[in-house]
Amino acid sequence: MAKLAIKGGKKVLPNGIKVKWPQFDKSDEQSLLKVFRSGVWWRGGTIELQAASACGKFERDFAAYQNAKFGLCVPNGTIAVELALRAAGVKAGDEVVVPALSFVVSASAALPLGAIPVFADCDPKTLQPDADSIEAAISPRTTAIVIVHFGGYPADLDRIVKVARKHKLPLIEDCAHSQGSQWRGKGVGSYGQFGTFSFQQSKALTCGEGGIVVCNSRDDWGKMYRFHNLGRLETQGFYDFYEVSSNYRLTDLQGALLNSQFVKMKKQVNVKMANTKALSAALRKIGGLEPLPEDKRITRRGYYYYCMQYDADEFKGLSRADFLEAMAAEGVTMGRGYGRSIHEYPLFQNMKVPTKYAGAQYKKVECPNAVKAAGERLCAIHQAFLLAERSQFLKIADAVAKIKENVDELVKAKSTARKATAKKK
Ligand SMILES: Cc1ncc(COP(=O)(O)O)c(C=O)c1O
Repeated sequence: MAKLAIKGGKKVLPNGIKVKWPQFDKSDEQSLLKVFRSGVWWRGGTIELQAASACGKFERDFAAYQNAKFGLCVPNGTIAVELALRAAGVKAGDEVVVPALSFVVSASAALPLGAIPVFADCDPKTLQPDADSIEAAISPRTTAIVIVHFGGYPADLDRIVKVARKHKLPLIEDCAHSQGSQWRGKGVGSYGQFGTFSFQQSKALTCGEGGIVVCNSRDDWGKMYRFHNLGRLETQGFYDFYEVSSNYRLTDLQGALLNSQFVKMKKQVNVKMANTKALSAALRKIGGLEPLPEDKRITRRGYYYYCMQYDADEFKGLSRADFLEAMAAEGVTMGRGYGRSIHEYPLFQNMKVPTKYAGAQYKKVECPNAVKAAGERLCAIHQAFLLAERSQFLKIADAVAKIKENVDELVKAKSTARKATAKKK
């Protein structure tokens, strides 16, 4: 039995997994230089110039890739969700159903509008927003539903779209994790009234900071346009203002980078899918670190995280934190996602919401699946590592197997260490 690295043995991956992120080359330089040398660094004032800009090209190409009709670039994925909520008609005092297991923004984007987030739990197997929990969270005050495709794994859009239609509520898909993901052959973000994406540094498609909202209705696009451009109408002059709004335009330098990065991202999606397919097969043989279920309706998988569920029982009670520490010692960088269900953050725990909002008394919120997944079970590999060379990538499974083999020794060592710490206190 090979000695664990945490006990002084040889690491499974002595140099870790080496992947450069972001990946860039001459084509990015050329794309950027073209806009730089043009001297037009914003996307232009008239609607025609805006359409002809690098941002304009990216909006058309990316929206089409996700099977949506329209796109609008914005400075980040946070503003993207807020803008979509506003264009969907969400106002102060409205309730918005939001996912408990996600990055904070899926819920907090409603707050600047004065709206009240109401949390829906996730499905314990897929970790995605659960349709029944969403439906249970709807009240007469609800005016929108936000879902996330956590890690890039599409939520069950068959059931969620049905719930949204039944209650005549706009659905906003927060696709910050899911560039490239498809459900039944159609891109995520095109099922809801709006789909929002982030292009922040760590995302599968990045320009440092950036975002886009996609939609299928020209009218919805027009509303977003107004809200993102100081309340200007696309049909009126540059100094005509019609809405309370702000400036949420993306620069064309970022648009240029998005265009060149997008070419790479479409190829990277395939590499990631092939690598994760092989890793999932290897992990299923070992047991105890379960990849998310295979689902034929997921026809393409984009990634922010490759998610797995850790089962401490299969590791003789070893906690997730101790498991991740042992994995890190073997040279595998694996995280636990965001660590908490969103409602558990001080932001919500300290928030006083009038009692008439029964679903938004955050100290009493019950989302047991999200709490358990975030607190004990979720293990996640960041999307950039999924681009590693295959044999190196599959060493992740070797590290899991090694820890499982040596688990008795590890559990014993952890228990002795804990007893010693308790004694000192
Ligand atoms: C699910 C989700 N939504 C929204 C955002 C916000 O995106 P940004 O960082 O571009 O503002 C993120 C960022 O990580 C995210 O993970």
